[in-house]
Amino acid sequence: MHSLTIAQVITDTRHALESVDVRLLLQHVLKVEYAFLLTYPEYELTATQKQSFQQLLQRRIQGVPIAYLIGKRDFYDLTFKVNEAVLIPRPETELLVELALERIPPDRSCRILDLGTGSGAIALTLAKHRPLAQMVAVDVSPAALAVCRENARTLRVDNVNFVTGNWFDELSGERFDLIVSNPPYVARDDLHLQQGDLRFEPQVALAAEDNGLACIQQIIAAAPHHLATMGWLLLEHGHDQAEACRELLQQADFSNMCSHPDLAGIMRVSGGQMRS
Ligand SMILES: C[S@@+](CC[C@H](N)C(=O)[O-])C[C@H]1O[C@@H](n2cnc3c(N)ncnc32)[C@H](O)[C@@H]1O
Repeated sequence: MHSLTIAQVITDTRHALESVDVRLLLQHVLKVEYAFLLTYPEYELTATQKQSFQQLLQRRIQGVPIAYLIGKRDFYDLTFKVNEAVLIPRPETELLVELALERIPPDRSCRILDLGTGSGAIALTLAKHRPLAQMVAVDVSPAALAVCRENARTLRVDNVNFVTGNWFDELSGERFDLIVSNPPYVARDDLHLQQGDLRFEPQVALAAEDNGLACIQQIIAAAPHHLATMGWLLLEHGHDQAEACRELLQQADFSNMCSHPDLAGIMRVSGGQMRS
């Protein structure tokens, strides 16, 4: 087998793949920081490293998301393990985290619910930043919840309970000060489902009936039975769903309905507060 150095890998792959992807795959295979690649371009990959890299390269060229190939994704200020059972955490979901943190007191206990927790990106970030809060993380997918549990262990977050089930079904009689959710909200016939990373992510994490609004509808309708007085519900939604969300919140008798824009100015999180 021919020898292969870091510098050769970078040159050979420049037409096939984004350089950031090559860098991340190399770091993953060699188990090194970026600085190593810069400092030792003449480093020769071992036969095993070369084989692993070439296999990953082929899968990346076929479209498999880089996060699944390297098994992790940064979100907010933490790094989450991910695999094919969970949605890859998105930067836009950090807006929901920011808005939730504004509503969680740092100095006293409160109860928070994350519906559709997946990797735990939202639940574990909030729980880590608000150690006095008691978090409940729900997902219908046992495989997703297993990833969330592992992330909680790795990130040393212990103020979280995990519940497998359909939205509120396993939470009869329980009330929370804040409910957050990034539910599936893509319409089943949306062509984006057949493009890019979405082709490889779990359908149960992405798509919903009723033009993408079915899960949002179910959550808003049931939330008043699980919120404390003055408690907040915050939901991430699609770029064109803010108005529909606020209408649903109004029908469910929420007050202080609001929608919040992402960095591109698009309304991506809506919410409302329970009346006193
Ligand atoms: C868009 S992903 C969000 C994952 C994670 N919270 C995030 O923001 O990266 C939606 C999640 O909802 C879960 N889910 C879908 N239907 C559900 C249901 N009926 N009850 C509970 N969880 C559900 C999926 O398994 C998936 O993990």
